[in-house]
Amino acid sequence: EKGGYDYFMLKEIAEQPKAVADTLLGRIDGAGSLTLDEVRISASELREVDKVVIVACGTAFHAGLIAKYAIEHWTRIPCEVELASEFRYRDPILDQQTLVIAISQSGETMDTLMALRHAREQGARVLAICNTNGSTIPRESDAVLYTHAGPEVAVASTKAFLTQLVACYLVALYLGQVRGTKWGDEIHAVIRDLAHIGGDVERVLETMEPVRQLARSLAHKNTVLFLGRHVGYPVALEGALKLKELAYMHAEGFAAGELKHGPIALIEDDLPVVVVVPSPRGRSVLHDKIVSNMQEIRARGARTIVIAEEGDEAVVPYADHLIRIPATPTLLQPLVATVPLQVFACELATARGNEVDQPRNLAKSVTVE
Ligand code: F6R
Repeated sequence: EKGGYDYFMLKEIAEQPKAVADTLLGRIDGAGSLTLDEVRISASELREVDKVVIVACGTAFHAGLIAKYAIEHWTRIPCEVELASEFRYRDPILDQQTLVIAISQSGETMDTLMALRHAREQGARVLAICNTNGSTIPRESDAVLYTHAGPEVAVASTKAFLTQLVACYLVALYLGQVRGTKWGDEIHAVIRDLAHIGGDVERVLETMEPVRQLARSLAHKNTVLFLGRHVGYPVALEGALKLKELAYMHAEGFAAGELKHGPIALIEDDLPVVVVVPSPRGRSVLHDKIVSNMQEIRARGARTIVIAEEGDEAVVPYADHLIRIPATPTLLQPLVATVPLQVFACELATARGNEVDQPRNLAKSVTVE
């Protein structure tokens, strides 16, 4: 049942801190190391992996795009991410040393299932990240890491996405841990931060009223653009996908660096543009670049809706609307930055009179290719 909420989607957004914590439960030991024995691919096999290929669809694909940054950074293993529906039909190069990760909430998505069958035929090992116990994708995989989001009823994925991210970080950190990389200290620090990230998600949820107000004020708009860099780029794609499926609006996500290669031509007076700003700490060069992107679009009339870390004052002059998120390590930021975009899309859909839990033309589980 909806537990007092008007929609399952609202309930599922609110459940995210718990879903994240449940997905971490039992996987971080007292010493701050990961224990993923359930994955049943031995440490020696994982040390032999020379390529990771992630296959998924929709929102799960966006989780995969974020995983690539984490896997390549912490493990130095090359990682590709591909839409399952494209992967299967292009004769991909795979062998026994390839680890294929299939991400699926339902575990029944036909495109993802066909991709993993093809991968196993080529001799690759397949690890499923899945939210549904005993579903087809984990049954047909060599190993599975379950997300513990609980049942997701709303068609638009929210809490499953956050737990997919957690599972992806766990796999990336675990691969880094068993293979031993120069990032050992960073890996330990991130595991510690991850253990508390549910509290950060909770804090974001407590500050969403201005986001809802903003969404209602934009209900008459036709287009919303989303910009991000690094892991903020897939977050932008996810924000745009949520808005398409729920609000039936034209929404597009771009890598902010691509603006000048075309999309900037779309900017016109009062066009809402959501900008996901990377942390000014850490990879600060990314931050400086996005600040100049904001200057460029604002000079052309865009109305900027800026998602930025608490204490980031450099963005203030360029933000028509400012949404604050807690400071996190750069790679973990999607866990907090996605939440306002979910709330934004849900509220816009409601304001436009759309059916939030059952958007037109969509099904929760897509069991045809
Ligand atoms: C978006 C959404 C879809 C699914 C996609 C994959 O909100 O729900 O894009 O993410 O159909 O579904 P699963 O994860 O069940 O394989």
